[in-house]
Amino acid sequence: MAPPLVTRARNGVLRLLRRLPRRGLRSVVAERERVIKEREATVREREATILEREAIINEQAEAIRQLRETVAVRSSEQAGASGIEAPPAEPSPRPDEHEDGEPRHERPDSLTDRIVAALPRIEGWCTERKALWLADLITANRCTQILEIGVYGGRSLIPMAMAVQSLGAGGKVYGVEAWSNSVAVATETSPENDAWWQSVDLKAIKTGFLRSVVRNQVADVVVVLEMSSDQAFATISATGLGPFDLVHVDGSHSEVQALRDVEQWSDLVRPGGILVLDDIGWPSVKAAREHVRRAFSDIEEIAESAETAYGAYRRGPDPGVAHSRP
Ligand SMILES: C[S@@+](CC[C@H](N)C(=O)[O-])C[C@H]1O[C@@H](n2cnc3c(N)ncnc32)[C@H](O)[C@@H]1O
Repeated sequence: MAPPLVTRARNGVLRLLRRLPRRGLRSVVAERERVIKEREATVREREATILEREAIINEQAEAIRQLRETVAVRSSEQAGASGIEAPPAEPSPRPDEHEDGEPRHERPDSLTDRIVAALPRIEGWCTERKALWLADLITANRCTQILEIGVYGGRSLIPMAMAVQSLGAGGKVYGVEAWSNSVAVATETSPENDAWWQSVDLKAIKTGFLRSVVRNQVADVVVVLEMSSDQAFATISATGLGPFDLVHVDGSHSEVQALRDVEQWSDLVRPGGILVLDDIGWPSVKAAREHVRRAFSDIEEIAESAETAYGAYRRGPDPGVAHSRP
C-alpha cells in the first residue's frame, strides 16, 4: 500500500534536504579545485618570469664583465704609456710589514681581519692591499675627518670607516657620490669607459653600498653626500664643514673632472693632512697627479699592477702651501 500523501511529501522534502548539502559540498569542492588550478597557473607564470629575469640578469652580468675587461685592457695599455713605474717583479712587502719585513704596529689585527673579511662582499675596485694601506694611513696619522669622492659600492670607504672606528675618537667618513650615470659621464674620459659608466646600474650599486654599511656596522661613522663632487664642494665650502685629515679622490677619471677634484678638494685638506689620488697611471689622471705633486709632498706612490696605481701626498704645515708653489 502506498504511504499516505503527507508521509510521501515529508520523505520528499527530507530527500531534497539530504541532497542539498551534498550539492553544496560538490560545488565547494569544484570551486576549490578551480582556485587551486588558477593558483598553479599563476605560480607557473611567475616561475617563467623569474627564469626569464634570471636569464636577463645573467646576460647583463656577462655584458658588464666583458665591458670591464675592455676597460681594464684599455687602461693597462694607457698606464703602460703613462710613465708610472711597472709593478715590481718580486712580491712587494705585505702592507702590514715595513720594507725590512718588520711588522707595522699601527693597525690592530682585529682591524685587518674586519677589512679582509668584509671586502669580498663589497662592489668596487679597491684591492685588499690598497684597503689595508688606507687603513694604515688613517691609523698611523690618526685621521678622524675623512672625505671620499667616488664611493661606488664602498670598497674603499668601508675599510676607511673601519679604520676610523678603530681609533675610537668619534670620527666621520664623508662619502661624496652621485650614483648617477649622467654625472659619471658628464665630462668625457674615453668612449669605452663612458659606455661602461652609462650602462652600469648605479641605483643597484647604491643599494648594495647601503646594505654593506649596515652589514659591516659602520653606519655611526659614515655620512653620505649624494650629489656631484662639484655640488658637494660648494655645499661643504658654504657650510664650513672641514677641513679634512684625509681626502680620497676616486671620482670621475676624466681629465677635466680629476684635475678639478684635486684642485678644489686640496683646499679642504688641513695643513699637514693627506690627499690620496687613485688611478695615477691613467693618462686622463696625469694632470691631476702633476698638480697634487706640485702642491703637496709625496708620501708614497704604489703601482700594484699596470692598471692599479695610487698615491698619497701630504699638504705642507703652512696653510698657504697648497697655492704657493708654481
Ligand atoms: C672608480 S668609482 C669609485 C670606486 C671606489 N672608490 C672603490 O674603491 O671601489 C668612481 C665613482 O665616482 C662616481 N662619480 C663619477 N663622477 C662623479 C662626480 N662628478 N661626482 C660624484 N661622483 C662621481 C661614480 O658614480 C663612481 O661610483
